[in-house]
Amino acid sequence: MKKRKLFSVLIILVTLLSSIAVLAGGHGHKRIKKKGILLVAFGSSIPEAQVSFQNIDKKIRAAFPEIPVRWAYTSSIIRHKLAKQGKQLDSVEVALAKMMDEEFTHVAAQSLHTIPGKEFHDLRHNAHAFSNMAGGFDRILVGYPLLAEEEDIRKVVNTMMKHIPKQRKKKEAVVLMGHGTSHPSNAFYAAMMYHFQQKDPNIFVGTVEGAPGILDIKEIILNKKIKKAFLMPFMSVAGDHARNDMAGDEEDSWKSILTAAGITCVPILKGTAEYDDIVDIWIDHLKETMSHFE
Ligand code: CO
Repeated sequence: MKKRKLFSVLIILVTLLSSIAVLAGGHGHKRIKKKGILLVAFGSSIPEAQVSFQNIDKKIRAAFPEIPVRWAYTSSIIRHKLAKQGKQLDSVEVALAKMMDEEFTHVAAQSLHTIPGKEFHDLRHNAHAFSNMAGGFDRILVGYPLLAEEEDIRKVVNTMMKHIPKQRKKKEAVVLMGHGTSHPSNAFYAAMMYHFQQKDPNIFVGTVEGAPGILDIKEIILNKKIKKAFLMPFMSVAGDHARNDMAGDEEDSWKSILTAAGITCVPILKGTAEYDDIVDIWIDHLKETMSHFE
């Protein structure tokens, strides 16, 4: 008799606890699985640069036709600049809060950055914070930027080689302009240059804000007695850096510095995200992330 009583108390307790668990999971109704994609770019305020984002958007919607796609810009300067023009772009945090509100359960936040630098690590950090919120996502994963693994470097090098203008001769230089950063991942640019030069010793990768800079590249070009250089952005958009720092007429632009050194310059104003086969590498990273939601 005593044993039976204890048993029924246990049954009641278990029933009670499980109903509390159900209630805690959203007042008794089970959440429906809802997958979403958040595309995270640095952003650009230059209208001509939007072609890059439009191309990524179009290709990602085609690759994941059933999944809602949202956008966020990591640069607050650009967001504020656009806001003054009446264009509202969300930060990662605002975009994720909205997705949480829309009851997404599984979110893939895809970094559209080129290297895993500060912006990427901040994204990981804050995405992780969202995964810990009560009533938040069941899962949120962050997809790698364009360059992450060694294999990405090889793929990007092989792909960019195909986009070097046909009129360029082997003895002429190709100078790619990366953004550059004080973050440790700045090393990716030198790694890229190494892989390019395994294929073609006259391809160089410099950066605007990191090392190597244009003066380093200029020295190498002069030592090699190269007379002509094709300048190409190694950034997803041909925005402010490409138009001004690379191809601008100011005396400290790459075009002006090389021209003053006797090197004829041919600037190409096309961001890497305008090339479909480069966008495919970002899409591969997103597919890898989405595969964890199956
Ligand atoms: Co910049």
